[in-house]
Amino acid sequence: MRKKDFKDIGDGSGLYMEEARGQATRTQRPAQAVPAKPAAAPPEAKAPEYRHIGKPTRRIDGREVVTGRATYTQDVKLQGMLIGKILRSPHAAAEVVSIDLAPALALPGVLGAVRLPDSKVRYAGQQVAAVAAVDERTAEKALALIKVEYKTLPYVVDWEKARDTNAPQVRDGKPNVEKLNQYVRGDVEKGFAEADVVVERTYRTGFEVHHPTETHGSVAAWEGDHLVVYDSTQNIHGVRDGLARAMKVPAANVTVIKKYMGGGFGSKLGLNEQTVAAANLARETGRPVKILLSRRDNAVCVGYRPSSHQTYKVGAKKDGTLVAFSLLNYASGGVGAGDDVAEPVVDVYKCPNCKVEEFTVFTNTGASRATRAPGHTQGAFGLEGVMDELAAVLDMDPLELRKKNYSTRNLGDTGLPYSTKGLDKCYELGAKAIGWERRNRQPGGGDGAGTVRHGIGVATSIWFGAGVPGTLADIVLYPDMSVEVVCGTQDLGTGTRTLMAVVAAETLGLGPKDITVKLGNSDYPWAPLSGGSLTTPSVAPAVRDAALKAVDRLKAVAAARLKVAADDVVMGDRKFFAKSAPEKTVAFADVYRDLRRETVFHGERTGFPQNEYAFNTFGAHFAEVEVDVETGRVRVLKYVAAQDSGQIVNKLTAESQVVGGVTQGLSAGLFEERIMDDTTGTVVNPNLRDYKIATSLDIPEITPLFVDVFDPRINNLGVKGLGEPARVPSSAAVANAVYNAIGVHVREIPMTPKRVLEALKKKEAGS
Ligand code: MOS
Repeated sequence: MRKKDFKDIGDGSGLYMEEARGQATRTQRPAQAVPAKPAAAPPEAKAPEYRHIGKPTRRIDGREVVTGRATYTQDVKLQGMLIGKILRSPHAAAEVVSIDLAPALALPGVLGAVRLPDSKVRYAGQQVAAVAAVDERTAEKALALIKVEYKTLPYVVDWEKARDTNAPQVRDGKPNVEKLNQYVRGDVEKGFAEADVVVERTYRTGFEVHHPTETHGSVAAWEGDHLVVYDSTQNIHGVRDGLARAMKVPAANVTVIKKYMGGGFGSKLGLNEQTVAAANLARETGRPVKILLSRRDNAVCVGYRPSSHQTYKVGAKKDGTLVAFSLLNYASGGVGAGDDVAEPVVDVYKCPNCKVEEFTVFTNTGASRATRAPGHTQGAFGLEGVMDELAAVLDMDPLELRKKNYSTRNLGDTGLPYSTKGLDKCYELGAKAIGWERRNRQPGGGDGAGTVRHGIGVATSIWFGAGVPGTLADIVLYPDMSVEVVCGTQDLGTGTRTLMAVVAAETLGLGPKDITVKLGNSDYPWAPLSGGSLTTPSVAPAVRDAALKAVDRLKAVAAARLKVAADDVVMGDRKFFAKSAPEKTVAFADVYRDLRRETVFHGERTGFPQNEYAFNTFGAHFAEVEVDVETGRVRVLKYVAAQDSGQIVNKLTAESQVVGGVTQGLSAGLFEERIMDDTTGTVVNPNLRDYKIATSLDIPEITPLFVDVFDPRINNLGVKGLGEPARVPSSAAVANAVYNAIGVHVREIPMTPKRVLEALKKKEAGS
């Protein structure tokens, strides 16, 4: 996911991602042979003792969600609200010759109809027109009455066919294959020449659809010249800005609201077409308009994870020291860009010579979108696969090979337990928890009853996650001792409300339930999009900053009551006391009352770690599987995910993130694949029956472990992101466990029984 992808949507969110990642775009910069020495951190920094931070806290809004009282976009009902529907092209490539809306508008109950931009159709499912009617049935009837004349054009949906020079051109006057990324450090040819062993392998990953529980949807209403939109979005501020541009109104006249959300996984980062359509129809009809996308739309129109076709060549010395790495990748993201998958190979291991070349292949399918850890999940699958295949050739323990080579770049001579040292801890704790010594010494040594083989595998995670400087949050103290924390972030379902309450409560000496949390409104203080694993490391430090300022004021007020100096005041259990005279106390309630009116404290997340690795997050995942060599079926038996995400804020929701990330990775690794039909140019499985997602029966016991590495340079709490790091290595860990079980690497995900059996057959044939 690069800046460009976001620019295409035009919502300005690319800027936030760029900030969030800081130097993370380093694969696109010239390599630095000798990185700068890191700034020294205070030696032996230790996280403070906390009462709530780092402990498990139940969601403060859990009751609303499980009782159905929480309002999602589809629950929004406004007076006079119309239902909008979008007409989509059945053709994968066509000129739109004409659109006649009149027959639709003539239908009683239809109040508005609009043509949607783009005279050229480039994928089946692309929007063409939209209607608004009094109810859903009427809107659907109206869609059928719109007359569209298409001139169909040749198309290509198969990305391998699209690479042919005589394949239909997806974009006018531009080739289907385009350079995506290149990176060089050292001299790979020299490196390979010096290697004792060279291994070359190709790995493929398929098209994975986000399929959040809640489909995309919007309700748009004009209040005079002010536009209010309820949107299922990961990015209320970005949607506000994009919508302002699209509707040609000032950003100050747009408010975007997102109360509760059923996930997004990257597919809701940008301004959506249905949001603009709803706003246009609302303007035309003078009534609020709701448009909800269908499950089918989710599979066809709002993105997926691009495929990859990665060829790695790795050279190593006999003792396992890596000397050269090269990667050639072809990625396909339909009419959008593919993902750059190089970050893992560039950054996880310290290999002096490294060369990357990546291409994107355009096809006539909907545009890809950022999907939970874009590029990294694909890259981890390939890189960690070839590391295991190299370990086998070297007759080395795959974990030892990783420990020998993981990058300590930029740790310099500080010797501090930061950065990639967290990864070392992950390897250690994870290996212990899974029982690494139980693995097969050589891949394929797995035994079991009858046709079943057991195996254990490991894979490494790297991601970003230090948060975005400039994130704002307010704390409001009331004389009746109520406390409000306000931030224009959004909760995707990950527990953002609770983390805000935890940080405020911790700092103010209260309980999480004492805090009223306000979020999900673009009129609130700015926060970045919720993506890139940057919500917690952006929002938590901003709340902390505001709350610390509030505490300062409370202490000053208490000091007046206690008749001591402000710096003599200490916060105790719901009271303040004087350090010099601990018997002098004043209750919180009295101090808050002395504020006399509500008082606002502004907080900001400031600073950003300049060290190349300090802002990265790490992890090591371990999977244990059984493979039936007769049926090709893979079952994951046990899974351990060790993560270094710095200070954990809420252990309960952090564990949920890890379990969710692992579940998604297992699902993608074993089952999920969007399939295109070459003869019609459409998605064959745009539903949840034919697109298989793991159920609870497919998911084993998952053990999340957090390593205790505290780096105060990251932000005022030392917190880093977690949502994506937990997804990065999970397909790879399962693939490596399968390899350990059956002795042949299934180099393509999803690892369907068919692919497992094909791999076994190839092994028998000795190729
Ligand atoms: Mo994430 S793919 O940045 O929601």
